[in-house]
Amino acid sequence: MEKILVTGGAGFIGSNFIRLLLRRRRKMHITVLDKLTYAGNFENLADLMDRTDFTFIKGDICNTRLLDTLLPGMDIIYNFAAETHVDRSILEAGSFVKTDVVGTYALLQRALKHRIPRFVQISTDEVYGSILKGKFREVDPLQPNSPYSASKSGADLLARAFYKTYGLPVVITRSSNNYGPYQHPEKFIPLFITNAIEGKPLPLYGDGMNVRDWIYVEDNCRAIELVGRKGKLGEVYNIGGGDEMPNIVIAKKIIELVGASEDLLTLISDRPGHDRRYALNIRKLKRLGWKKRWSFDEGLKRTVWWYRRNETWWRAIKEGTFKRYYRKLYHQRIRDARRGKGKH
Ligand code: NAD
Ligand code: TYD
Repeated sequence: MEKILVTGGAGFIGSNFIRLLLRRRRKMHITVLDKLTYAGNFENLADLMDRTDFTFIKGDICNTRLLDTLLPGMDIIYNFAAETHVDRSILEAGSFVKTDVVGTYALLQRALKHRIPRFVQISTDEVYGSILKGKFREVDPLQPNSPYSASKSGADLLARAFYKTYGLPVVITRSSNNYGPYQHPEKFIPLFITNAIEGKPLPLYGDGMNVRDWIYVEDNCRAIELVGRKGKLGEVYNIGGGDEMPNIVIAKKIIELVGASEDLLTLISDRPGHDRRYALNIRKLKRLGWKKRWSFDEGLKRTVWWYRRNETWWRAIKEGTFKRYYRKLYHQRIRDARRGKGKH
């Protein structure tokens, strides 16, 4: 029986990944290690708690003593655990360095000690920085621009170094922007869907023309599973959906799907250091046999449908400590935009 450790499994991608594994494989046991930060949500996994092939442990990847009890006998580790939101990293970078860099180091070091046969580091396309034309390849230099992407770059490079220096069997995935069920409403797509449902302003940063490469979360999870199984040790795999469009185009699609008013669109002052465009060359992943299944329009429709059906889930988040964060990050900027100061 395969023993699998998923760190950060109570978050957005981790919880989707676990569901994919449970749908697919039979003889395995999944252990989730998650600190349940503001972003981790027990509700994301609540329906799995009674299963005999699933164990949930609340804990920190920085806790090496805990790692020493959990790691022996594991066949594979997927390290999803991270602080993940760029805007929060701009407000406070310390927790990003702690979890993303120091936490990943602790996990790599303990994985080496316990001779774990496979370690999948979940990295991001943001490590490359911004690209105005063309697409990033795996061999391109890392030029991160936010404290989030810099911390993730630290983790990504430590994982590489543990392969090169100590022979730890590592593979690294760098995926583009995910969207889909269970994503925290601090992120662009779920924030806009839920604000549109609530009739609140949709705060677009800058001119709304920044571009991301979007991938439906299930397509990313299938790619991670494939790289975990078939990826060459020591190698990096880009994972992207190739659905590139300016934020304002997505905002308008959301407005249409929700049936809200375009008057909600509000251009507010830009995020500092805001990367203009991300785009990935995914030839290497395709060579492993991966194919995208979800078009952006289909994936977005399904995502809007999920947020409509799961209002209790996101309202509980939005009405909790999130309120304070939202007030701090958005209220003044939205007020300024309404007075005509938001556009530059
Ligand atoms: P998320 O913020 O929804 O979830 C992160 C999870 O990690 C949470 O459950 C949180 O409680 C847990 N966590 C945080 N610190 C921890 C610690 N010290 N110890 C144990 N658990 C801890 O994030 P996500 O969007 O699901 O992202 C998962 C991974 O994928 C991250 O590594 C992220 O950098 C990467 N990634 C995300 C995207 C995206 O678009 N969301 C794109 C590329 C890469
Ligand atoms: P986000 O979901 O934060 O992902 P990332 O910055 O890691 O790519 O943001 C996606 C894009 O949407 C990015 O260009 C910033 C923009 N954005 C807004 O315009 N308004 C918002 O309120 C948020 C959260 C993001």
